[in-house]
Amino acid sequence: MANVTVIGGQWGDEGKGKIVDWLASRAEVVARFQGGHNAGHTLVVGNETYKLSLLPSGIVRGTLSVIGNGVVLDPWAFRAEVERLRAQGVAVTPENLQVAETCPLILPFHRDLDALREDASGSGKIGTTRRGIGPAYEDKVGRRAIRVCDLAHLGELGAQLDRLCAHHDALRAGFGEPRIDRARLERDLGEIAGFVLPFARPVWITLNEARARGDRILFEGAQGVLLDVDHGTYPFVTSSNTIAGTAAGGTGLGPNAAGFVLGIVKAYTTRVGAGPFPTELDDAIGERLGERGREFGTVTGRKRRCGWFDAVLVRQSCAVAGVTGIALTKLDVLDGLEEIRICTAYRLGGETLGHLPAHAADQAAVEPIYEVMDGWPESTHGARSWAQLPAQAIKYIRRIEELIRCPVALVSTSPEREDTILVRDPFAD
Ligand code: GDP
Ligand code: IMO
Ligand code: MG
Repeated sequence: MANVTVIGGQWGDEGKGKIVDWLASRAEVVARFQGGHNAGHTLVVGNETYKLSLLPSGIVRGTLSVIGNGVVLDPWAFRAEVERLRAQGVAVTPENLQVAETCPLILPFHRDLDALREDASGSGKIGTTRRGIGPAYEDKVGRRAIRVCDLAHLGELGAQLDRLCAHHDALRAGFGEPRIDRARLERDLGEIAGFVLPFARPVWITLNEARARGDRILFEGAQGVLLDVDHGTYPFVTSSNTIAGTAAGGTGLGPNAAGFVLGIVKAYTTRVGAGPFPTELDDAIGERLGERGREFGTVTGRKRRCGWFDAVLVRQSCAVAGVTGIALTKLDVLDGLEEIRICTAYRLGGETLGHLPAHAADQAAVEPIYEVMDGWPESTHGARSWAQLPAQAIKYIRRIEELIRCPVALVSTSPEREDTILVRDPFAD
């Protein structure tokens, strides 16, 4: 039985949503396992564009979609997204969408705290999405969280809410903010519970039963390996583990559930938010990549920083996340460039490095060593077969495979669902 786990191989926004949507036609279940509505996954199907933040991308095809326990769930954002999709004609019901009862909730004061900290950080800002993701994960690990299952027991939440509010009131006081309006919080929770609870299920049972039947499960990661709280460019990271291993713990399946690990990798590099970015381009080429690639954040509308492909980073991502094969996306954005650079190593204080050093100051100081390749004048936009690619583009792909030590399974050549080249079927492995 073949499962596939899709993860981002860089700093997010690699095109995971498009690839998950494409693969979802061959899966019986699509499951999110970490992150929250900080994610922004864009799907283009014909004339319709769908933007998903919290819901698995499989929902657009009607595939059974599961939000696993590893996700932090903002119940109001959840309702807004379900309603938005319904308005676009997508059926979203408790029959095709299940939410783990054990998901910790993102509450309004988590969002407040995220913004307060960012605003107080000056030049030390992370550049978070301000969705309350970090504070909600802190409360989960601190054993203070309110979870989806608590929504069915609101009358018994007294002591739990006391503890949670006391913790946050102390933090709020430090920022000169008023205490949490407890009565309003309880009223709001009571009101949203009726919307969320019909979707709440022991999803680990659903998924284990699906596995036992031989159903194919497609795990949809959010963010990317370089934003992983352990393996990323700490502290400029998100607050969850974004690697494929989280698919198991974040849904309630064993460690061998992940199956084929498909790393989604952009043919160049982008980053949104602060933090080191060795191959960043502050010039006309960076602008061009941003314009052609429409590099604006799905969630926050922020301009994404752009740069050359960094083979050092992707090689490291593939290694730490156990990537079986990559989907190389946005190849078309490079069309028409005279020359293309690939970072193959770093220079740091007279030394040559083949990996990203651990310390933030060293990460900021490394200088990329580039290999230069000819570009291609032809268009790859919309190519659906290997034969439609110019020889020079194929050379570029082959060189990337060599440098990152990982084969290409898919190539994507436009935002549109079907503009995808299948090189090696991840479900067949
Ligand atoms: P995700 O967060 O990894 O799902 O990626 P996003 O959806 O945030 O950002 C990727 C953007 O690139 C979206 O606007 C996609 O529609 C678009 N996209 C995906 N694949 C391709 C591709 O191969 N070529 C082009 N030009 N755009 C693509
Ligand atoms: P998808 O799934 C790109 C970045 C934020 C910030 C850092 C921490 O669409 O690829 P957080 O709100 O998580 O505490 O922010 O992580 N970030 C993303 N960048 N794509 C994402 O998701 C991201 N989710 C978070 O910009 O730098
Ligand atoms: Mg995104």
